[in-house]
Amino acid sequence: MCGIVGYIGDRGATPLLLDGLKRLEYRGYDSAGVAVLNGNGVETRKAAGKISRLEAALNASPVHGNLGIAHTRWATHGAPNECNAHPHVDCKGNIAVVHNGIIENSNALKTHLESLGHKFVSETDTEVIAHLIEEAFDGNLEDAVIEALWQIEGTYGIAVVSSEDSDKIVAARKGSPLLVGLGDGEYFVASDASAILAHTREVVYLDDGDLAVLTRDGYRVIDLRAKTLERSVHKIEWDLHQIERGGFDHFMLKEIFEQPETIENCMRGRLLDEEGTAKLGGLNMTDEELLKFDNVVITACGTSWHSALIGEHMMEELTRIPVEVEYASEFRYRNPIVNDRTLCIVISQSGETADTLAAMREARNRGARTYGVVNVVGSTIPRESQGGIYVHAGPEIGVASTKAFTSQVVALSLLTLKIGRLKDVSVVRGKEIIEALRALPGQVKQILDRAGEIEALAEEFKRAQNFLYLGRGYNFPTALEGALKLKEISYIHAEGYPAAEMKHGPIALIDEMMPVVFIAPHDSVFDKVVSNIQEVKARKGHVIAITSREEPALAGKLDYEFRIPETIDMLTPVLACIPLQLLAYYIAVKRGSNVDQPRNLAKSVTVE
Ligand code: G6P
Repeated sequence: MCGIVGYIGDRGATPLLLDGLKRLEYRGYDSAGVAVLNGNGVETRKAAGKISRLEAALNASPVHGNLGIAHTRWATHGAPNECNAHPHVDCKGNIAVVHNGIIENSNALKTHLESLGHKFVSETDTEVIAHLIEEAFDGNLEDAVIEALWQIEGTYGIAVVSSEDSDKIVAARKGSPLLVGLGDGEYFVASDASAILAHTREVVYLDDGDLAVLTRDGYRVIDLRAKTLERSVHKIEWDLHQIERGGFDHFMLKEIFEQPETIENCMRGRLLDEEGTAKLGGLNMTDEELLKFDNVVITACGTSWHSALIGEHMMEELTRIPVEVEYASEFRYRNPIVNDRTLCIVISQSGETADTLAAMREARNRGARTYGVVNVVGSTIPRESQGGIYVHAGPEIGVASTKAFTSQVVALSLLTLKIGRLKDVSVVRGKEIIEALRALPGQVKQILDRAGEIEALAEEFKRAQNFLYLGRGYNFPTALEGALKLKEISYIHAEGYPAAEMKHGPIALIDEMMPVVFIAPHDSVFDKVVSNIQEVKARKGHVIAITSREEPALAGKLDYEFRIPETIDMLTPVLACIPLQLLAYYIAVKRGSNVDQPRNLAKSVTVE
């Protein structure tokens, strides 16, 4: 949510900053701006809308310099217009700030600063930071930033430059991710490694409370008392081609098609065929410790919350441990029953979602053992959790999550298998699960090879105004996920429901205008779903069914049927969600939506 990039070195800063912003655009894209130091002072250029608008503004009025900061915004305070775009400057225009996060006491600070004569021009909370730094400035930028930050309540990832201490960038983090990139005689700051990967793989992740001072000769990490801190250098393992579209029209489509490989990557080296169990390197727990938990709480947001629901189902079935799934945003503000006999599993693609992170901290404060299921390596959740599993889906750029979801489900099945085998699951059953897992990449590929069929279906339904997605058991969450995918990117209203629960309300909506997607693989609840399909058909709904076998009882009842390969019940969502991802994608494209950057959404929601 919002992206920051900064550069100091010998090269021209503007093209580097623009390139970095384009790679961060998936995090926020309603306005953007740069500030470059050019020897005469701070030059800023801003534009409402996408980065291409900023690029046009820079072409019309270029800025040159070897040091600068830039930002792409997802508005929280103030409309997404040019004035509210970052960077924000102080009264004299000497200090420029870019900021991710929210300053909670910005109103009080603004009133105070105005009483001292400061003039504000934007509606943002960020502008107070520039004026606070101005007020504190006495020749040294980091000292002034430190003084400003002591007055701020809320969250921030910031980068600051000043023409009066002009050979440095000062960056700071509290609650919003930030890293320093180490190049050869040049340094970067970024909210996300993808912004700088074209230039360096060596990064230093900042922790909350850290400040970084970047000069042409090096960098220092200090705390809010200016004490020097040691922070280790990490190497980014993924490649640039992974964050490029590679011939696909959209990142989302590329990511859907990557799933045979990403599912494989999630399992790689983790399956013990002979013992019929899984090996999880990041568990950081002995088998005895793993068996001590009385309950499991899984907390997440969005698509990750849907994989949590699938995880709940499989864990309860195979391990018999009570599992509760909570929206992270709800969990953190109630009084959950969590103690030192609770395993708290935290699922997040980005590893940075503010609510999920806060929920994890809350659980940990209450004594729970925290375990992260995360995609982005080195992000905050894995760094703060006591153990975890990287799902290894690789960078996910499309705002609508696809490959991270399937990898999360696979990762949860590995954890379930591990705990289940320590409890009642037999080696034979364990081996069956492994066999089914190993078959998944090939089965996903078979589905993807038939993407054209879903594209044709999308043509038929692209003008629908509502959609209902129904499933039961393991595929109730799949129904939720299918509906979420569609509404996120096509803006068609869609609801996911447990198929039988439909009778208690949504059935009133069904008529000949309502497409109803049934997720009906041949699992333990299939016969029940067949009855629900008949109920919809009797009311003239259009039935689109994801099935896995021919079923005589359904003859003539389905308007459209897409068969997926068969697998064990707990893995059916991995296969069933693929046609739903494709359906959402093709409908959105046909409606002319911006699939990778849907309106109002952001990839990584780092504000509450
Ligand atoms: C945003 C994204 C969703 C994602 C959710 C949770 O809303 O648009 O795709 O599922 O955040 O993100 P996380 O990174 O924690 O999985």
